Amino acid sequence: MSEWRPDSWKSRKVVQLPDYPDQDALQQVEAELSGYPPLVFAGEARNLKAQLAEAAEGRAFLLQGGDCAESFAEFHPDNIRDSFRVLLQMAVVLTYAASCPVIKVGRLAGQFAKPRSSNTETIGGVELPSYRGDIINGIDFDEASRIPDPQRMLRAYSQSAATLNLLRAFAQGGYANLVSVHKWNLDFVKSQGVGAKYGELADRIGEALSFMEACGINPGDVRQLQGTDFYTSHEALLLGYEQSLTRVDSTSGDWYDTSAHMLWVGDRTRQTDGAHIEFLRGIGNPIASKVGPTTDPDDLIRLIDILNPNNEAGRLTLITRFGADKVEDYLPKLLRRVKEEGRKIVWSCDPMHGNTIKAAGGLKTRPFERVMKEVKQVFACHKAEGTYAGGIHLELTGQDVTECTGGAVAVTEESLASRYHTHCDPRLNASQAIELAFLVAESLKEERQALADTAVA
Ligand code: PEP
Ligand code: CO
Repeated sequence: MSEWRPDSWKSRKVVQLPDYPDQDALQQVEAELSGYPPLVFAGEARNLKAQLAEAAEGRAFLLQGGDCAESFAEFHPDNIRDSFRVLLQMAVVLTYAASCPVIKVGRLAGQFAKPRSSNTETIGGVELPSYRGDIINGIDFDEASRIPDPQRMLRAYSQSAATLNLLRAFAQGGYANLVSVHKWNLDFVKSQGVGAKYGELADRIGEALSFMEACGINPGDVRQLQGTDFYTSHEALLLGYEQSLTRVDSTSGDWYDTSAHMLWVGDRTRQTDGAHIEFLRGIGNPIASKVGPTTDPDDLIRLIDILNPNNEAGRLTLITRFGADKVEDYLPKLLRRVKEEGRKIVWSCDPMHGNTIKAAGGLKTRPFERVMKEVKQVFACHKAEGTYAGGIHLELTGQDVTECTGGAVAVTEESLASRYHTHCDPRLNASQAIELAFLVAESLKEERQALADTAVA
């Protein structure tokens, strides 16, 4: 394979990248970004990789979630706090039910660039370039907004830095202590009327905490119960931005993309001979690729060999996203092939992107029951193939939005427009996300029980 450099992607086929009309301005911005401080430290990315290695081996579970697209307009400390909080609530449910460590990774602090299925958008006979995320152009439907503007990268960088700073403070400053998170879950169970089953699980967590206290373990004194590890991730789409933040780590001498701990490539940009895969293969971070219905098993093995040539556990996560009706047709043959070839993978399930439909009023939505169905099908396929469903990848927000239909406090097609705030795809709201966590917890518990039984047998 040819030599990798942070800019070697430029000699490959490029898709989904904007054409900046002002190339001088672009170069200036990229040069400026290259001198900015890294957002994450390579050692943190290595810690995450080590934790993901546990998920690849069936001993941990990856919870990854956040906005479809972060935006400049929705940048507010309450939004960051609420998304962080809902992820922690989900993590506690999963950790307890499955008795295994849950690795928390936000789609936050850098998730700005969006691939689009069409280069243009037409409204009322007017055709304009598509919106590609706030790091590239503006969402307003007018000509000026849609022109790609490199200055937006600087704003995205500073928003990411501020977001990450707050996340770090929340994670380690006392906000994320286990007793508070448990209390939020109790409030959720009480206020949302989600049924006796979830209440029972929440009670059992409470009993476990009381038991620990009775044994003299005060959650306030134990570092692991006082705070949490929390990592960031986004789609490595805008390669000029990613390249500018890619630096040599002085400890290991390796290249790391310091814009986030984990980076993934989307379903539209994962071509083995394309620019995005070329970029990702050279960075030391843990990386991921989406895997959709057009993935051929031979191609997938080629992709794995490019991205993880040393078959290192934790290096590569595959995020499958087929749609509830397609999982059974597509997933088993990929699982079987990767298993036969002995490749070490964290298999994560994205039950969002294959289940997007247009509601009667024209808004994009995702029916909650289809999201749940994909999750169940994915666990069933892994069980049948003897592989481990090691993670879940979700678009969610801690806000009470109405973007996905269904859930215990049902959002209807008619009510979608009332609080529809996403800048791209529909997200689960806080209660839908926690409800889903209870469901995943049940499936994960069964999966882990089956693993334990096989180990004993
Ligand atoms: C996304 O995760 O927002 C996305 C665009 O997903 P995919 O690449 O799987 O379509
Ligand atoms: Co999306």
